[in-house]
Amino acid sequence: MFVISFLARIFLWIQTADQELPGQTQKITYGKIKFQIIYLCESMTGQDILYAKSLLEQGKLVAIPTETVYGLAGNALDEKAVLKIFEAKNRPHFDPLIIHLSSLDQLSRYIEEVPDVFLKIADDHCPGPLTFLMKKNNSISDLVTSGSDLVAVRFPAHPLTMSLLQLLDFPLAAPSANPFGYISPTTARHVEKQLGEKIDYILDGGPCDIGLESTIIGLNEEQSTIVVYRKGGLEIESLNKYGLPVEVKETSTSRPSAPGMLLSHYAPTKMLFLADDVDEAPSTNHRTAYLVLKNRKNQIDHFALSSDGDLREAAKNLFAMMRELDEDDQYDVIIAEKMPESGLGLAINDRLKRAAYKAE
Ligand code: TXA
Ligand code: MG
Repeated sequence: MFVISFLARIFLWIQTADQELPGQTQKITYGKIKFQIIYLCESMTGQDILYAKSLLEQGKLVAIPTETVYGLAGNALDEKAVLKIFEAKNRPHFDPLIIHLSSLDQLSRYIEEVPDVFLKIADDHCPGPLTFLMKKNNSISDLVTSGSDLVAVRFPAHPLTMSLLQLLDFPLAAPSANPFGYISPTTARHVEKQLGEKIDYILDGGPCDIGLESTIIGLNEEQSTIVVYRKGGLEIESLNKYGLPVEVKETSTSRPSAPGMLLSHYAPTKMLFLADDVDEAPSTNHRTAYLVLKNRKNQIDHFALSSDGDLREAAKNLFAMMRELDEDDQYDVIIAEKMPESGLGLAINDRLKRAAYKAE
């Protein structure tokens, strides 16, 4: 069995040119034909954007780094590729996908009309951790938007992904690269562990800088209010200066505008509880890990998200730390401390609340 799976993972490329391919390679020349044997079993990750491009052009899936979290990307204009994304993530079709573009100039290809206020906000914050809901034109399939007239658009700030997007003549549909409902990935290793079997390549751009998904905004029907549908990597306070009131949507359970708003999401498999002060939390019989903003003393079983209470550092470490504790056999239960309710603390608390255990 091992031999078969090993052999199945050895790819043979017959080439006429000396094109560089990713993975460990061995070149063999046989008369006029050149062979390159590529052993992908060791590594399905790398920084080869040309290889990523060619896979995406063939309708395949590639995980991409962004400044927020890793995305599971496919050609947004190719319905078969889009279907593969839903399948790989085990994601329900009612949960629409964000499309990723390299520059504001491309908006007119996919959007009916871009509200002026969004242009101003984009000017200040894009590329960056912000997603806009805007009226789509017919080039974007209903499959991407789950039947909505609105499509979510974002301009990611990671240099590898920006270069890749510049090489493509289509947008990338990319949800976070995790199985539906689980914690989003902030390293290539996280993606490989959970979705490695289902995707063709992972562009490894190192750990994500921000570590929380993008903030999602739209406008109300009268276009008179900025509506925040998901608190995320861009602090809500930075939206206050555009002359429109800002309304923050909290949980919606039945037909959520954004399933990131589902009551239960971003969840570890262990039970996670949320406490105002972990030291005051009632003691349990379970082996408990405490997830805190910063360590006051050298308390055992306490895991600090930041050395000095910095919310940006905490956001960056949150998902990786949740995964680590979820996988750590020493603990059965996680108790997480609520963060201060400002800046990225709002988005961290939002994720912790949705990750928290809910009795059925
Ligand atoms: O930071 C991010 O936004 C990451 C990176 C990879 O770009 N992406 C991400 O995608 O978090 P995803 O699919 O895990 O979460 C996107 C959220 C979903 O909850 C989805 O429902 C919402 O955006 N969304 C997408 N399109 C929408 C639409 N047309 N209307 C309302 N909500 C939408
Ligand atoms: Mg997600």
